Amino acid sequence: MSGRYAVTGSASGIGAAIRERLLADGHQVIGIDRVDADVVADLATPGGRAKAVAGVAAACGGELSGLVTCAGLAGLPDRPASLLVSVNYFGTVELITGLRQQLAAGGGSVVAISSNSTTCQPGFSLELVDACLAGDEAAAGEVADRADSVSAYPATKTAIARWIRRHATAPDWIGAGIRLNAVAPGLVETPLAAEQRNHPTIGPLVAMFPLPMGRGGAPPEIADAATFLLNNQFCVGTLLLIDGGTEALLRPDAWPIRWEM
Ligand SMILES: NC(=O)c1ccc[n+]([C@@H]2O[C@H](COP(=O)([O-])OP(=O)(O)OC[C@H]3O[C@@H](n4cnc5c(N)ncnc54)[C@H](O)[C@@H]3O)[C@@H](O)[C@H]2O)c1
Repeated sequence: MSGRYAVTGSASGIGAAIRERLLADGHQVIGIDRVDADVVADLATPGGRAKAVAGVAAACGGELSGLVTCAGLAGLPDRPASLLVSVNYFGTVELITGLRQQLAAGGGSVVAISSNSTTCQPGFSLELVDACLAGDEAAAGEVADRADSVSAYPATKTAIARWIRRHATAPDWIGAGIRLNAVAPGLVETPLAAEQRNHPTIGPLVAMFPLPMGRGGAPPEIADAATFLLNNQFCVGTLLLIDGGTEALLRPDAWPIRWEM
């Protein structure tokens, strides 16, 4: 059956691959991005996020089958950390909450994009994770700007994963028939990854990132994971790690771990 899906970051990389997959499966897709999209909006600002929500609400006829939030920025030494807080975290969470009514009406589900940096990049600020989850964008931005965006990136992606898992089981979400899940990709060959590879200081670090498969992921492989989570009715609060083996190589016994009561 044909559905109506909204995809942020639809102009490039993973978001573009998800958009193409959904279109190939016969669905209507409302793409959201800064350029080349059905709804052009800057998710870095509250006004841009409100514009995006209003644009999707107007285009979807009151019902959404799904929302995939791919818009995001990589951490780079010359990029403000507060910008990652705004785009990656608030650009995800405010789109999800802003479209809750349409998702409930359409029996929809959500897939957010986290990252394996959440478990493979050591030492990031848990204070920043908590500040994001507290919901005050200006305060979280201040915490973030005490360091650079390279270390803020995994914090924003951890906050996304925790927000999804905390809300997935709540009455407003699964209680309203809306499944919340997330994909945690490893290195995927997109313009974002190329931007990192080509950076003079970050590039050599990315080149050292272990890839047991011998290659980075391809965007359609992440689209497979996202469409699985959109469609599988038993996935609730799932964080699907798909990274070619990086995390299993670095931390084989870190998960699952016994619950200590
Ligand atoms: N590529 C990887 O290795 C990788 C790994 C893990 C997670 N991710 C995540 O996957 C998602 C997609 O990344 P990608 O690799 O496809 O990158 P990409 O750069 O190819 O695509 C990101 C898209 O987000 C859009 N975007 C950025 N800032 C925006 C803003 N302020 N408002 C609206 N749109 C904006 C860009 O215009 C672009 O179209 C991101 O959230 C990224 O953090 C990527």
